[in-house]
Amino acid sequence: MRGSDFLLHVLWLVLFQAAAGWCQANITSMLAPQADRVMALEEWEERWHEGRIGFHQPQVHKMLENNIDKVLAGRTGVRFFFPLCGKAVDMKWLADMGHSVVGVEISEKAIKEFFEENNLTYSAEPVPAIPGAKVYKSSEKNISLYQCDLYNFSSSIDGQFGAIWDRGSLVAINPRDREKYTSLIISLMAKDCRYLLDTLLYNPELYKGPPFFVPDEQVHSLFGNSCDIELLHSVDALTDRQRNWGLDYLTENVYLITLKSS
Ligand SMILES: C[S@@+](CC[C@H](N)C(=O)[O-])C[C@H]1O[C@@H](n2cnc3c(N)ncnc32)[C@H](O)[C@@H]1O
Repeated sequence: MRGSDFLLHVLWLVLFQAAAGWCQANITSMLAPQADRVMALEEWEERWHEGRIGFHQPQVHKMLENNIDKVLAGRTGVRFFFPLCGKAVDMKWLADMGHSVVGVEISEKAIKEFFEENNLTYSAEPVPAIPGAKVYKSSEKNISLYQCDLYNFSSSIDGQFGAIWDRGSLVAINPRDREKYTSLIISLMAKDCRYLLDTLLYNPELYKGPPFFVPDEQVHSLFGNSCDIELLHSVDALTDRQRNWGLDYLTENVYLITLKSS
């Protein structure tokens, strides 16, 4: 390499590192208001027991319905993963279309309500690899819901997935766990996995969450090294529910994330 080329190369590296450092510092400062917020698993279970589940929607989520063709990409019989599944009716909707669904949820009440409210009979059995965990399986549909902490789940328990629907999940986990969450999700993606991710943007000074604020820059810093990321929609999602939290704007971003081919 000639001397001038070498100098240019070094200059480029220095500039690149400075820009990366600036981006990271910018993300850290955006996240600061919620960085230390922690929801214990018991608090989630309490919410279920007290019926404080305003996040639950009785109908199929519009963003899943509107983007299902992009997620399926012509495939049939896709294995869907639902991290932090709650009792999302989307699971039954997909199973009715012939796909299979695996969900993970800490609340046993949520899991039982899912099956009961959708008129599905089920059986439960222990999961030997996860002490204390149970898997609830529908007798009629291809739906298995693991009752355990998400971070105890892995591809060694139930393989990898062809699709992931992440609504109320990345935005619900504790902000300090996002790197750990990302590694787990990437490890669960099969080569052809199409991961639909729903995030929320709002002023984190005004509301402590959950759901937590996840900026676009962080989606890129979390997934960008391993994945291609396409922003499919960015829409105004402010309703009276969030106005009552004190928010003055709320943007819902929906991404399609796929593993890089190399
Ligand atoms: C905001 S709710 C979203 C539920 C569902 N995805 C939906 O859209 O209706 C988050 C859910 O994750 C569960 N949860 C939170 N942390 C968890 C963890 N670490 N492992 C398993 N479940 C968890 C809670 O009990 C709650 O049902």
